[in-house]
Amino acid sequence: MTPTTQPTTSRPTTSTTGTETAAAPTPDAGRPASAETVTLAVLIGSVRSGRLGPTVTRWFTEELAGQDDVLLDVVDHAGTALDTGAGGPSDPAAEDANRAIGRRLAAADGFVVVTPEYNHSYPAALKQLIDSYRQEWYAKPVGFVSYGGQGGGLRAVEHLRGVFAEQHAVCIRDGVSLHGVGPADFVGGGVATDPRAGASARHMVGQLTWWALALRDARAVRPYQP
Ligand SMILES: Cc1cc2nc3c(=O)[nH]c(=O)nc-3n(C[C@H](O)[C@H](O)[C@H](O)COP(=O)(O)O)c2cc1C
Repeated sequence: MTPTTQPTTSRPTTSTTGTETAAAPTPDAGRPASAETVTLAVLIGSVRSGRLGPTVTRWFTEELAGQDDVLLDVVDHAGTALDTGAGGPSDPAAEDANRAIGRRLAAADGFVVVTPEYNHSYPAALKQLIDSYRQEWYAKPVGFVSYGGQGGGLRAVEHLRGVFAEQHAVCIRDGVSLHGVGPADFVGGGVATDPRAGASARHMVGQLTWWALALRDARAVRPYQP
């Protein structure tokens, strides 16, 4: 595994299903926000069974544990039927789930997208999540934690930049890229074996926090006009 801070681009509990280690949905639930606190929604991009995404996400949230200026809300949309606006779900339970995710995205000051790379791009389910919401993304910053084979998920990140631009979101420069990772790189399901990965994560969140505060202040002064 080679973590890098790329120019391209708390505290969870766990449960394990098969090969998958799940991140807690809301590691900072109940912790009060303040004027200097930012809420970051951490989006798990992969939904397939046996996915590594929750393990990577848990590692990331563990790295941020104890950072009092950041509240993390892990959003895992696996199993949720999302509505892209093309027809819409007819199932009331699905509509409730859609609204619940929308409220959490709306409450966030910024986003961390944890994405693998599939066939040189990002997962289709992540596109579905992004397309299913609109103003929830407006004028908010996005940072990336990507992973995959030799490419470290960087091609997925580059493709996501254009998608988030269309949603009026602001993608930050630096991100975390984990090359060739597997479950063995995360001791006990949560700690990356390469310490440079943690430094990259904290650096990225530092930048993301700056943008989240700046854009939150700006939206308060002058509502964003898409
Ligand atoms: C369908 C598929 C396509 C993949 N394509 C790529 C690829 O193009 N580049 C790469 O670096 N890794 C690729 N991989 C490896 C994944 O990025 C890696 O297995 C990652 O852990 C998958 O994330 P997940 O387990 O959370 O779904 C691919 C994996 C799958 C399942």
